[in-house]
Amino acid sequence: MEMNWNCGSRHGHERQTPVRFRRFSLIQRNPCTLGVTALTLLTLANTSAQDSTIRAVQNIFDPLSAPAEILYRISLLVLATCAIIFLVVAGLLTYAIVRYRRKGGADDLEEPPQVYGSAAIELAWTVPPILIVVVLVLVTARTIGEIQKPKLPNDAEQVRIIGHRFWWEVRYPKYDVVTANEIHVPLSDRSKRIATEFVLESADVIHGFWVPQLNGKTMLVPNHTNTMWVEPYKTGIYLGNCTVLCGAQHANMLIRVIVDTPERYQQWLNEQKATPSNDQAVGEGQRQFIANSCGSCHDIGGTNAKGVFGPDLTHFASRQTLGSGVAANNEENLRSWLQDPQVLKPGCLMPNMKLGDKQVQSILAYLRTLK
Ligand code: CUA
Repeated sequence: MEMNWNCGSRHGHERQTPVRFRRFSLIQRNPCTLGVTALTLLTLANTSAQDSTIRAVQNIFDPLSAPAEILYRISLLVLATCAIIFLVVAGLLTYAIVRYRRKGGADDLEEPPQVYGSAAIELAWTVPPILIVVVLVLVTARTIGEIQKPKLPNDAEQVRIIGHRFWWEVRYPKYDVVTANEIHVPLSDRSKRIATEFVLESADVIHGFWVPQLNGKTMLVPNHTNTMWVEPYKTGIYLGNCTVLCGAQHANMLIRVIVDTPERYQQWLNEQKATPSNDQAVGEGQRQFIANSCGSCHDIGGTNAKGVFGPDLTHFASRQTLGSGVAANNEENLRSWLQDPQVLKPGCLMPNMKLGDKQVQSILAYLRTLK
């Protein structure tokens, strides 16, 4: 049942619990019209001033960012070169098979003429292949340079992304902003570049960061820092995945890169910098959050919750999804998550806290105010 990739029946199953929550992530990665529409509507409800177009293309042939475009161009060159070689070789082979096939005459019994040493033929099958390889090596080397050592504008944004089993810690050092799983970056322009550099690290095992329309894959390796950059040309919500098998919930370690206009990006940063208001109406929820040790793993700005093992929840309610993209961030899913995270994300590192209904309700109400 989990392997049912057919769009029609997949959505047909969505009324069931709790499997349907996992369907949500399938929709993200394998969009069909219905899935995208549903998700877009969900997202629209959450974010007004934001472009909620879901960009879920999971291949390299529709790049929407500078490094992805460079990779796309070299892929076309290599593919075209290989296609030409294939046509020439397969063409000659087919010709020989047809032209010199056994015809059933007296000719069949005779040995064909034996040709030894032909400088022309030997040059023909050594020199062009060498030239082709040299050209591909040079072009690839130049491309690697462009991608790995880019000349980024001085005012490039920088985001630190730390892979955890099974979520992404996202830090904006310049602004002292910490969030998780949803990475906001500013829109670039072909005439005036706005680049964002990602500094990639891992807190535990090797993870892989891949948002195909923005850039190629880069690994997140413990005790080592890798970098990559993006320069997106269209606003919207770009979906990506962890690409290295990192444990039980590897497949649900989903990435959302949200490309905003520079103005909207600044507005988002300002919202994230602010300490959430201490709403007395949900004071009980905040007390329960602390009393049940949620603060040992989660940080909430302006409170005693200072944990670092789980996602920072300071502005949790401003996010579109929970559980690193496993489900939409709405009341129903959050309740399920608080009752038992293992239902939505079996194998995730947050245990069932065995909260009572009242505790769940008050913590839920509190978390929902963390805009
Ligand atoms: Cu992280 Cu796979």
